[in-house]
Amino acid sequence: MADLDDVKEGKNFAAEIPMEVRASAIRGANALDWGMQDRLSRIFQAGSGHTVMLAFDHGYFQGPATGLERLDLSIRPLIPYTDVLMCTRGGLRATIPTDSRKPVVLRCSGGMSVLTELSNELVAVDIEDAIRVNAAAITTNVYIGAEYEHQSLANLVKLIDTGNRYGIPTMAVTGVGKNMARDARYFGLATRICAEIGAQIVKSYFVDDGFEKVCAGCPVPIVIAGGKKLPEMEALQMAYHAIDQGAAGVDMGRNIFQSDCPIGMIEAVRAVVHGGEKPEKAIEIYSSAKAALH
Ligand code: 5RP
Repeated sequence: MADLDDVKEGKNFAAEIPMEVRASAIRGANALDWGMQDRLSRIFQAGSGHTVMLAFDHGYFQGPATGLERLDLSIRPLIPYTDVLMCTRGGLRATIPTDSRKPVVLRCSGGMSVLTELSNELVAVDIEDAIRVNAAAITTNVYIGAEYEHQSLANLVKLIDTGNRYGIPTMAVTGVGKNMARDARYFGLATRICAEIGAQIVKSYFVDDGFEKVCAGCPVPIVIAGGKKLPEMEALQMAYHAIDQGAAGVDMGRNIFQSDCPIGMIEAVRAVVHGGEKPEKAIEIYSSAKAALH
């Protein structure tokens, strides 16, 4: 039986201390519900507010992409070093241990391949399955200006609406059609459209000129894709400039798992993204890890 003596005067309500109202440190997240903010907080780290996502979802349209022939061998060893796993449900279930404790950004689109039109995607995962694998966020591509622009935006709308229903944020990936200009104007347009439609995170490519305007014009966090494999120093410079100009992190794949020292590379990327380390210092982390391999 409840303790009736507890209902009496004399409790300490500390009435003289104003109740603290905490704003979310994540851009655009203040008005989101608790579960949504909780999931975003698992993605963006408390200290830096940034994230290092490891992208290995390439197989959903590329099959066994170089470096991802065996996810168990290439990706599993990197799990301790990443903040987030970005992958397909097939890759996740088949190869990622359930005790990895890393939040998952789940690729929820598909339906095309490298042999066909890339923008011709559909939503390829039901929200129930995203919940079943405990996704921290769900993701699909948008192809602004491409043949199936409208369909890709409809896919995004569907993910956002179903994600909102269950408190799961959506990351919109700005895919680039074959003949699209990869400049700040294009990514400024594409990222802003995604945020206005309701995406809670937007993934963009980095551009050398005007990337700070892309970030400034997007009211939710931007993470950058790594793109094709670059020399390690160039990839670290790209990450550094992206963060310096307002990105909230990286969602990097090939520049990590195709490196000749993936653990050293992801540690170097972390130093840049979370520690603000300059590329010239961060490359030393990669170089010494590589030297230790031999
Ligand atoms: C494809 C994706 C991929 O996950 C992403 O582009 C891969 O990362 P990277 O470019 O760094 O290999 O979203 O649309």
